[in-house]
Amino acid sequence: MPKMPPVHTRPALHPASLARYVDPLPIPPIAKPIGMRPHPHEPSKQVAFYRIAMREFRSQLHRDLKPARQWGFDGVVPGPTFIAKSGEPMLVEWVNALPDKHFLPIDHRLHGAEKGLPESRTVVHLHGAKTPPESDGYPESWYAPGKSATAFYPNGQDAAMLWYHDHAMGINRLNIFAGLAGSYIVHDEAEAALNLPSDKYEIPLVIWDRMFDTDSQLLYPVSSNPDAPWIPEFFGDIMLVNGKIWPYLEVEPRKYRLRLLNAANGRFFHFSFSDGRPFHQIGTDLGLLPAPVEVKSIVMAPAERADLIVDFSARAGKTVNLMSEYFDIMQFRVASGSVKDSASMPSTLRAVPKTPESEAVQKRMLSLIEWDNPVAEPMIMMLNGKRWMDPITEKPRLNTTEIWNLINVTDDAHPIHLHLVRFQILDRRRIDRFAYMSHNKLRFTGEASPPEPYEAGWKDTVRANPGMMTRIIVRFEGYTGRYVWHCHILEHEDNEMMRPYEVVATAAEQVIQQTAARLCRGRPIP
Ligand code: C2O
Ligand code: CU
Ligand code: CU
Repeated sequence: MPKMPPVHTRPALHPASLARYVDPLPIPPIAKPIGMRPHPHEPSKQVAFYRIAMREFRSQLHRDLKPARQWGFDGVVPGPTFIAKSGEPMLVEWVNALPDKHFLPIDHRLHGAEKGLPESRTVVHLHGAKTPPESDGYPESWYAPGKSATAFYPNGQDAAMLWYHDHAMGINRLNIFAGLAGSYIVHDEAEAALNLPSDKYEIPLVIWDRMFDTDSQLLYPVSSNPDAPWIPEFFGDIMLVNGKIWPYLEVEPRKYRLRLLNAANGRFFHFSFSDGRPFHQIGTDLGLLPAPVEVKSIVMAPAERADLIVDFSARAGKTVNLMSEYFDIMQFRVASGSVKDSASMPSTLRAVPKTPESEAVQKRMLSLIEWDNPVAEPMIMMLNGKRWMDPITEKPRLNTTEIWNLINVTDDAHPIHLHLVRFQILDRRRIDRFAYMSHNKLRFTGEASPPEPYEAGWKDTVRANPGMMTRIIVRFEGYTGRYVWHCHILEHEDNEMMRPYEVVATAAEQVIQQTAARLCRGRPIP
């Protein structure tokens, strides 16, 4: 597809002008509750209550740069890390304390980003969480500066690294680019029993690419059409981990658990270590794998997480860099000598029972397409040829299983994410795109290949590769109500590649559901 090259409104900072590995890796602070509040539906119980404000501030992202304007949770980017325990609910009041003016280029032609709306609107979504619909951060449930929303997070799910980020309709790519994202780690007892590296040996690595101007400020490019500044994807040439540019971390010669999150707008990372040594992936987006998988490199699409065990003991006294192909990411400086490492990497982690295909009551064919009409509007990407505002077409029944066939006829890979649920990847298979696009015929031109071993766990985001049909199997459980599914390339998501879906139940099921609701389900928080 022809894509207009992005242009810069200000001169861009050249990546070669910045020294690598001169700043230590920041570890985001741990979010602290400010008190206890009654459980929203069991008022006799108390749950931890957090209040986190989104603000504008300036901070230095590299030794040789001036402070850069950012938007962050609690004055840090990425925001503070939440540490949750499975089964222990919490309440978070997300406060919008941003200035009224946005500092990044809004495209008012995108749906939901019309002129006249408050520019700095936000709504927070906890990605990967099994959350009642009222607390899920529906893109249209945004609020303006001076307002807040309180979300109820039941945490009724397995140990995993989730992440929270803005989800405001039509500007979410800009809000996240400005810094509105953070990690949220759920731990549970089964995980604790594994004796994995923990505390200071368990490190979240929130990774994204950015571009800067020569005045040290974030630079988000625009299209060459001044009336339609939206660009199809953002790719930066400067890499940040936990908010610092090319940082380094001093480590001991022992095992570490690294919790990677690709929080980039559009970039796919192909991670490996500069010395070529293998490492182990122990978990996917939503939990532990059945067993550690030895890898030399992994692909991570935007929004995917990887739970890694990296053993630095064989690298004592050396430095090793985390790379993404030819891009530098960060450096590990391993102390010399040896230390006692009492953490383990067990050979079995947690059973991930395969969801049988026979359980599926519904198979959906869902196309990922691009539509290019430069005269009328910017190019748009769509799910199944539908726009956000079209009536809801995906209405899975509560407690049923479905197979979603993601048919990608575009030239790009799209990371497809479903809210609320966890799923498994069945396979990917090459298709004849022409036959599909011209006469709606599904013809395969290759064999189906299973997911990579390191993807064969619980997922909430899947890489739908170009020219392929990617099949996922999903059980819709937890709550009824309206959620969304979308491409996690933020530029696509903001431009129609997002659809609502609704988990529905029969009248009889509703009664059961409502009874259960009194025990565990969310309701609108007063
Ligand atoms: Cu990261 Cu709709 O989510
Ligand atoms: Cu999500
Ligand atoms: Cu996409």
